[in-house]
Amino acid sequence: MTAITVITGASGGIGADLARIFARNGHKMLLIARNGEALSALSDELSAQGAPRPLVLPLDLATPGAAQRVVAALRQADATAGILVNNAGYGLAGTVAGLDTAEQLGIVNLNVRALTELTLLLLPDLIAARGRLLNVASTAAYFPGPGMAVYYASKAFVLSLSEAMHQELKKDGVSVTVLCPGATATGFFDRAGVDANMLKMLRPMSSMTVAEAGYAGLMAGRRVAIPGVMNKVAALLSGVVPHLLFMPLLQHLQAGRGR
Ligand SMILES: NC(=O)c1ccc[n+]([C@@H]2O[C@H](COP(=O)([O-])OP(=O)(O)OC[C@H]3O[C@@H](n4cnc5c(N)ncnc54)[C@H](OP(=O)(O)O)[C@@H]3O)[C@@H](O)[C@H]2O)c1
Repeated sequence: MTAITVITGASGGIGADLARIFARNGHKMLLIARNGEALSALSDELSAQGAPRPLVLPLDLATPGAAQRVVAALRQADATAGILVNNAGYGLAGTVAGLDTAEQLGIVNLNVRALTELTLLLLPDLIAARGRLLNVASTAAYFPGPGMAVYYASKAFVLSLSEAMHQELKKDGVSVTVLCPGATATGFFDRAGVDANMLKMLRPMSSMTVAEAGYAGLMAGRRVAIPGVMNKVAALLSGVVPHLLFMPLLQHLQAGRGR
């Protein structure tokens, strides 16, 4: 069986650019997201450029049994996971009291449960391949986030899980990296319900720049990859400035973004 690279959330944004970088570096891939047309278009684009044609799996990772379907798709292709990139995720702007309960639980379901389940199911593959795991968290992982509370909390989970796994899996030869981007120009803000003017104010990085930082961090075996100086500073400050001081600022920044 061939060990290949599995990328979730590859139909657009950071995940699609990660796929472009992996393709450039000759990786065989399985690309996953709900939008099958976008995945097929990306697969065509990459194979037209001479990369091995990526396999695509249109799948809602938040549905029960989704992680098992990923494993089944790999086995059907006579493949294992040598690299897993858990990138699929979303957030919603608004207060915990104002946002819909099911929609908020959906964030936990995708960003936390699906990521954890897929990681645990594919861990034997990664260990056998002495492979690599890249989890996409956020600078949001470093702070409580009034105005986007469940999203920030979900990313704190991803950061904590990834750092602990980095330590645990060293002895197995598996490197674990967590990518913590700040604002990035993708479809994320649209889905979150964030105003386009607010996004401009945040001076987002390009998804390719973020993906390149993630790829470089993963290949270097770094524990954490934070693209951009300001994002690194924010993460550093979170360790020294009390959250009590940050929270009104975050609330102000996010005020009026959502419901
Ligand atoms: N953009 C930012 O400012 C920013 C900052 C920090 C961290 N991040 C994180 O970066 C990651 C990628 O986000 P992005 O910015 O590239 O946003 P994006 O353009 O909205 O991409 C999200 C990806 O996740 C997929 N996805 C969403 N729900 C899914 C589901 N239920 N099942 C399977 N796939 C699903 C989407 O594809 P389909 O819609 O086709 O399913 C898409 O490919 C996320 O984890 C996000 O939290 C983003």
